Amino acid sequence: MSEFNNEIWFVGAEMAPLVKAGGLGDVMGSLPKVLLKSGMNVRVVIPYYKNIIPKNFIDIKEVYPAGKVNFGEIPFEFGIKTGFAMGDIPIVLVEQNHFFNREDVYGSHGGVCAYKDNLWRYAMLAHGTAYAMRILGIPLIVHTHDWSGGLVPAVIKQTFGDKKVRIEGEAEGVLNAKLGRRINVKGLRPAIVFTIHNLGYQGVYGIDDFYDIGLDFKYNSSSAYEHFGTFNGLKGGMKLSDVVTTVSPTYAGEITTPEFGFGLDGELKSLGNNGRLKGILNGIDLDYWNPKTDGLISYNLNLKEDKYNLKNYNEWKDFKLKNKKALFSALSMPIETGNNGNVLPLIGIVSRLTEEKGINEFLDALFNWNDFPFQVVILGSGRDYIEGKANYLSKIYRDKVYAMTGSYDEALSHKIYAAADIFAMPSKFEPCGLSQMIAMRYGCVIAAGDTGGLHDTVSDIMDSGVKNPSGILIDRINPDGIAWALNELYNRYMADGDEWRNLVVNSANKQFGWDDSAKVYESLYYDILK
Ligand code: ADP
Ligand code: GLC
Repeated sequence: MSEFNNEIWFVGAEMAPLVKAGGLGDVMGSLPKVLLKSGMNVRVVIPYYKNIIPKNFIDIKEVYPAGKVNFGEIPFEFGIKTGFAMGDIPIVLVEQNHFFNREDVYGSHGGVCAYKDNLWRYAMLAHGTAYAMRILGIPLIVHTHDWSGGLVPAVIKQTFGDKKVRIEGEAEGVLNAKLGRRINVKGLRPAIVFTIHNLGYQGVYGIDDFYDIGLDFKYNSSSAYEHFGTFNGLKGGMKLSDVVTTVSPTYAGEITTPEFGFGLDGELKSLGNNGRLKGILNGIDLDYWNPKTDGLISYNLNLKEDKYNLKNYNEWKDFKLKNKKALFSALSMPIETGNNGNVLPLIGIVSRLTEEKGINEFLDALFNWNDFPFQVVILGSGRDYIEGKANYLSKIYRDKVYAMTGSYDEALSHKIYAAADIFAMPSKFEPCGLSQMIAMRYGCVIAAGDTGGLHDTVSDIMDSGVKNPSGILIDRINPDGIAWALNELYNRYMADGDEWRNLVVNSANKQFGWDDSAKVYESLYYDILK
């Protein structure tokens, strides 16, 4: 018999709004909140990025004695602090200034120029997590995320043993009982859930790096981190966990194929065959992303009802136009009109500028298009050549294109969602995608790649079987395909009839909150304790 706390610990590299590089941050910030509300005892473990996390977002209550770990020959000390984020989310901060007190989360340019010691940094997160468990009590479940959380399963197993905790009878009552309840159960270590947010980032390093991160050498095997002679953080994370999830049902299928599996499709397929791979759609925080109350946009939506229809479309039109005017005046852009006197549609982009997002092809579509009939605002950072191309386009078409590259700007992102008529997300693959969900919440019509979570959330106007279309899905991401999709939306926008109005209203009605998916996670937590 061992003693556990009836808790679930989320472990990851980001947590919005404290620290966010992309959608992982949103999920780590929003899902725990929903689970806490439904009565579960959740804590979130993240690195203490002192330079990045705004002081007023956290309230530190306890500081614990330092822990130690050797990375090869080099000893490192680290600290553990506990408290609350945003007032009421219990957090554990792993403090190690050399590793975590930096300018960026993963490296500059949205992580594209990754810090060379990221393997050490996230090994530190794993050791800090296991140490915190020894001090604060072992949780029943650890839910860890992405390759940066992929070292957690090994450190947990080498610290507490291989035998997973089990609860006889109803796990539900145990997980939902009051925080801090100690329980005696069978097993030695927490059950481990691992979520893959993006298979494109696997944490691949030289196999020799194994010696330097405080992992037991038995994990240097193809049943853990070894992958064709390299170290692969994501592979080990999924091999050593009890259940693996990914962030949309379609992506869960896609990653078992060579096209989307990034070399791990075989592993993922056999996990799927054993019932250990599940696709659970992400949600967004509908209170935070709310056009009626959002404090970062210039005008709020002036509607009481939560369901929209053609009768209240004019409020949406008003909301868009006012936010567009405010945004354009802030960016010193004129509002352009088309031949029929209608204001040109505004295409918004808020994205990491990496190959997978298809923004390069989007920019080429505009370059190829003689005098394209859109205005465009792009916010994003990533690959130099994509940033450069966006900036070049904005130089040539000064009145039509605005590009803010190389920076992360939360406030501007909200203003773009609020002002844009069309939101473009032509991803070649997209595990879930949150930007399109946010954009729909703000009444944007979506032009997206037909893949992963985009397929699961955007209802395609070209699909005659779809009742309430909210955008258009593009099969093959190339400049012609993107231009085709944008042109289809342009025609509907300019006609300004019911077809366009319905698109806006349908989009705004989609509202992808967490409620349904949080329930799926809850039952997964109960099952895994059996
Ligand atoms: P990914 O996680 O692959 O980057 P998602 O669509 O899941 O894509 O999530 C992206 C999140 O990051 C959204 O909340 C989006 O608004 C935000 N985001 C991306 N780039 C920026 C940026 N430069 N400034 C502000 N927010 C951004
Ligand atoms: C990743 C994926 C994105 C997903 C996000 C949150 O960053 O690229 O599609 O929405 O994680 O799960």
